[in-house]
Amino acid sequence: MSASSVFEKPTSSVDLTPEEQRKAVEEWKRAAGQLFLSSRDAIILVDSAGSILTWNPSAERLYGWKEVEVLGKPFLELVKVELPRPLGQIENILRREGYWEYELKETNRQGLQITVASRWTAWRNSAGVAIGRLHLDTDLTKLRRGEQQLRVVSGHLLNLRDEERRKLGRDLHDSAGQLLSMAKLNLSLSEEHLGTVPPRAAAYLEECSKLIDQALSEVRTISYLLHPPLLEELGLAGVLPWYVAGFSERSRVKVTLDAPKEMGRLPRELELGLFRILQECLTNIHKHSNSSTANISLSLGNKQVRLKVEDQGKGMAATATQSGNEGRTSGVGLSGIRERVTNLGGHMQIRSGDWGTAVEVVFPCVEISMEPV
Ligand SMILES: Nc1ncnc2c1ncn2[C@@H]1O[C@H](COP(=O)(O)OP(=O)(O)OP(=O)(O)O)[C@@H](O)[C@H]1O
Ligand SMILES: [Mg+2]
Repeated sequence: MSASSVFEKPTSSVDLTPEEQRKAVEEWKRAAGQLFLSSRDAIILVDSAGSILTWNPSAERLYGWKEVEVLGKPFLELVKVELPRPLGQIENILRREGYWEYELKETNRQGLQITVASRWTAWRNSAGVAIGRLHLDTDLTKLRRGEQQLRVVSGHLLNLRDEERRKLGRDLHDSAGQLLSMAKLNLSLSEEHLGTVPPRAAAYLEECSKLIDQALSEVRTISYLLHPPLLEELGLAGVLPWYVAGFSERSRVKVTLDAPKEMGRLPRELELGLFRILQECLTNIHKHSNSSTANISLSLGNKQVRLKVEDQGKGMAATATQSGNEGRTSGVGLSGIRERVTNLGGHMQIRSGDWGTAVEVVFPCVEISMEPV
């Protein structure tokens, strides 16, 4: 059989006699040659009923059986393939397009579950008639396991960071905030003596008083942004108006909030994730955007929850948008948002230009109850 014939449209499928089949397999192996033996991927050839006709050394390593032990056995049952749709539908696709691929879960001889990138190709004779299928399986088990572990670790790191921020916010408020308040009080007490000091010194003192006011407002804003309010108790819908108003007042960024009044409770993880994302976006607006306005919209529908935070500031550098959407930034804010979004199974999009910046996140959300889930 020529290499290109597997991609031609089949006219129908046929069952071969054992002798015809043996010859066809020999011919196919000759054509595949060294590739079959030395490929790192598992290669499995099955007949039109799905029984194994041959598999290569990589398949032996991946699944744990020698080729002689599996000949004639039904491949899909042997490795307990979990198909995403009925086999008949996949066979229709193979008949129509000659090709199908998917990431599949299988089980090896030791009973361990493995993950493979599986590509199926119709195997046809020189007349274009389907006589079986070719499976090419790339082992992704270690990669997927590593990704899963990374996700767990990054989830822990995010929690630690949340805790750290909460503590920092409280400490900042209780230490620097209190000290500045006392300094401000002392300065106010000294105001009545200003007439007795040289005018230049009085001007400096007045300047100091203004600087302390600024520092106080900055410390309060930062600690407010770091320290989350009563999210657990009030829920996202309950906290948002209050939090946004507090942010507006402290940062002097005029923020509009468009959110459903009656929202019930979302799953706890999701509420916390959305709130942290909002906090980071508002912190970024305060720190970087120079915008005096911002809009927040939160909507529910089509089994999704969508949060969009937009400012009308100077916009991000192109690298930050790209990094926020795909890669890394020097700061941890946007990459933290990306991590949270991945962990919660959502999507994220950042758009930015000279009109400002918009960060939008969407999460699947099935359950909405009146109590935290
Ligand atoms: N709303 C915004 N307007 C303009 N630039 C922004 C905005 N949000 C983020 N940026 C830019 O994107 C960069 C990356 O943001 P990110 O939140 O990841 O880090 P950071 O805010 O600098 O540090 P961190 O969040 O770790 O405290 C920022 O340094 C800033 O240049
Ligand atoms: Mg940031």
